[in-house]
Amino acid sequence: MIGTTFVVRTATGADAACVDLWVAAVADRDGLPASPAVRERARTKFAADRVALVVADDPAGAPVGFALVTAPGTGGTPSDAAYLSLLAVAPTAQGHGLGRRLLAAAVAAAAEAGHAQCELHALDDNAPALALYASAGFRPVGDSFPHALSGRPTRVWRTGADR
Ligand SMILES: CC(C)(COP(=O)(O)OP(=O)(O)OC[C@H]1O[C@@H](n2cnc3c(N)ncnc32)[C@H](O)[C@@H]1OP(=O)(O)O)[C@@H](O)C(=O)NCCC(=O)NCCS
Repeated sequence: MIGTTFVVRTATGADAACVDLWVAAVADRDGLPASPAVRERARTKFAADRVALVVADDPAGAPVGFALVTAPGTGGTPSDAAYLSLLAVAPTAQGHGLGRRLLAAAVAAAAEAGHAQCELHALDDNAPALALYASAGFRPVGDSFPHALSGRPTRVWRTGADR
């Protein structure tokens, strides 16, 4: 199974490759050309106060997926939860369980760093991501708000939010 051939590790020094991966995954997701604005926003996210970067490498050592976790509040609103800032799997590697493994590793890394809860922002129309987050125990919290770049409806999802 392809997902199990990738090594998931906590990484340093992989930021530039992960930004490239994010830009490619978003372009593929949205059916649009690679966006300089998406790249710049990702760079800003990589510059935020970091909790963990979890990367999946292919057998040749090239990143094929990653999850970036930054400090509580770096999502733009005050929060007690670590912020799962970016999660992406290369389009050619999607659908084989890697996103799920990266998400679990990111939540585990946040817990190890002392953050019992995680939250993230997800587009309301990003069905694959929402299905993944829901099945991993995240729940939507509050009303939708416009995404900072695209304006598309976006919502906070967090762990430990069952009512
Ligand atoms: C979201 C993303 C990381 C998922 O990665 P992935 O490796 O394809 O995910 P997995 O194979 O681990 O699948 C995990 C779950 O996601 C959901 N999922 C994945 N692809 C799906 C699809 N095409 N349609 C519906 N649900 C899907 C399913 O619930 C799946 O669980 P299942 O296999 O038990 O049904 C990937 O699609 C991606 O990089 N998207 C572009 C970037 C992005 O939008 N990131 C999220 C930002 S909030």
